[in-house]
Amino acid sequence: MKIVHYPHPALRHPARPVAAIDKSLHLQIGQMMDLMYEAKGLGLAAPQVALPFQLLVMNITGDPLKRDCEEVFLNPAIVERKGIVDDEEGCLSFPGLYQKIRRAKTVRIQAYNLKGQAVEKVVTDLEARAWQHEIDHLNGVLFIDKMGPFARLAARSSVKSFEREFRALQQKGDIPPDLEIEKVLAALEAKS
Ligand code: CO
Repeated sequence: MKIVHYPHPALRHPARPVAAIDKSLHLQIGQMMDLMYEAKGLGLAAPQVALPFQLLVMNITGDPLKRDCEEVFLNPAIVERKGIVDDEEGCLSFPGLYQKIRRAKTVRIQAYNLKGQAVEKVVTDLEARAWQHEIDHLNGVLFIDKMGPFARLAARSSVKSFEREFRALQQKGDIPPDLEIEKVLAALEAKS
């Protein structure tokens, strides 16, 4: 498992709800947490590791020693948004790219935990931003889609270089062609 970078097709593939909490899911979650810490992120969504499922991991402190801040959510949804705040945001699928993004200041979330229990919580500021960003990933939405005209212009050359780099790796054979990736995603969905 590794974190895929834009424009990997998994990032645009809408995620399926998680249907079973089993051993392989626990294994995937452990690997996602490790990758998130390694990349110094606060959250990671399953599509970012090429898994087409509604699953995300988070540790808003970013500190691997603070295990009590680790959170795992299945099939999450934002049910209420309040306020607006512009702040800098990054994404592990666009390493090094940071831009101001407008988000709701406070959101109410519903999801399931690893015990299969429904959970609801209200989060604000950084945590609300992380949630909105990660849930977007589950819908195939990326932070570049949320940029205003100025941020979009500022990010343009960086986005283009991610595209060039990805296509070059595909040409070298280090990354499979898009069609093959789509087939793997479809096979993963069929197994679930
Ligand atoms: Co992201």
